[in-house]
Amino acid sequence: MHILHVVGARPNFMKAAPVLHALRKRSAVQQTLVHTGQHYDANMSDVFFSQLEIPSPDVNLGIGSGSHAQQTAEIMSRFEPIVLERKPDVVLVYGDVNSTVAAALASAKLGIRVGHVEAGLRSFDWSMPEEINRVVTDRLADLLFTPSEDGDRNLVQEGVPAEKIFRVGNVMIDSLVRLLPAAMRCPRNGFPQCYALVTLHRPSNVDDSKTLKSILQSLLEIHQDLAVVFPVHPRTRQRIEEFGLNAGNLHLIGPLPYVEFLALQHGAAVVITDSGGIQEETTYMGVPCLTLRNNTERPVTVSLGTNVIVGQERDKLSLELSKILAGKAKKGTIPPLWDGHAGERIADVLQSQS
Ligand code: UD1
Repeated sequence: MHILHVVGARPNFMKAAPVLHALRKRSAVQQTLVHTGQHYDANMSDVFFSQLEIPSPDVNLGIGSGSHAQQTAEIMSRFEPIVLERKPDVVLVYGDVNSTVAAALASAKLGIRVGHVEAGLRSFDWSMPEEINRVVTDRLADLLFTPSEDGDRNLVQEGVPAEKIFRVGNVMIDSLVRLLPAAMRCPRNGFPQCYALVTLHRPSNVDDSKTLKSILQSLLEIHQDLAVVFPVHPRTRQRIEEFGLNAGNLHLIGPLPYVEFLALQHGAAVVITDSGGIQEETTYMGVPCLTLRNNTERPVTVSLGTNVIVGQERDKLSLELSKILAGKAKKGTIPPLWDGHAGERIADVLQSQS
C-alpha cells in the first residue's frame, strides 16, 4: 500500500509525524512525503522536521506566500503531476490549512482516495478560512479520522456515512507525549519564573489595526503584574510593523521550535492564544488557557479541559486572568483517546483498507 502524506504549514508537522512513524513500522507500506512549502522559514518548518524526526520530504512544491486563491491554486497545479507520477493508494491530509484543502481537491478529482486526519472539527464560523478548509476537505475525504466525539457528531449531521468515520483520538497529543520529556529537560534561561505565554496569528485578531492595538494594550496592562512572553508569528510581526503599533516592553521573541515552545507552555501560569492546537496542548498538560476568539472548533477543550473562551473583550480577559492568578483556575481532565496512540490507530485503519 502506498500512502502519500501532504504537509505544508507549521501545525501539520506535529500531526503527520506520529502517522509517519506508525506506518514506518508496518510491513508492505510505502510512504511518500510532500511538503507544499506553505511555511518556508527555517524556524516555521525545518526545525520541526528535525525535532519530530520527520524524514526529509520526497518533494517540496515550494509554493510560499500568496493570497488564499493563489496559494490553493498553486498547490493544486504543482501537486497534480506528483500524484499522477507516484500513483498513491491514499493521500493523507492534515488539519485545516490551505495545503490540506488544495491537496484533497486535486486528489479527489484524480479519483485517488483521500484520508483526512483531524476531521469533523467545526467552529461554525464561516468567516474563518480554516472552517471553509475543514468543511470542504471533509466533503472530499473517503476516510475521516476524528479526534473526539463531537467530530463524529458533526460529520453524521452533515450526512457523512458512519462507515467513513474513524474516531482515532488526537495525533497532535501523540507528538506531545513523545517530546514532553525532552521539553522538561529544556533549559529556560532568560525567561521569567512566572509568566503568561501569548500567541496570536488569526486574521480576525491581527489583520485589523484597531483590534490588534486593543489586544496589545491588554497585554501591556497584564505585563505590569505578570511578565508576558510572546513568540510572534511572522504574520503578526508584519502587521505590528505595518500598523506602527507599540508592543512596549513585552518579551517579543521569534517563533520557537516545537520542544522549546512545549517547555514554555508547560511552565506558564497561563497561556493566552488564538491558536487551535494550543487549546488542545494546554488541556493535555493541565495549563490554564484563555482563548482570544468567539468560538472554538475544539469544544472538548472547554467542556473537559482547561480552556476558557474570552473572545475579544478586555473585561472578560482580565476577569478570567484574575481568577487564575488567585489560584482559582478551572480544573480539567484529558479527553478520551488523547493518549499518544492515535497514529497507531490510523495505521491500523489504513492497513485494514488495503
Ligand atoms: C496558516 C494556517 C493557519 C495555521 C497557521 C499556523 C491557512 C489558511 N492558515 O496561517 O490555519 O494556524 O498557518 O502557523 O492555511 N510567513 C512567513 N514565513 C513562513 C510562513 C509564512 O513569513 O514560513 C508569512 C507569509 O509571508 C504570510 C503570513 O506569514 O504573509 C501568513 O502565512 P500563511 O501561510 O498564509 O498563513 P498563516 O497565517 O501562517
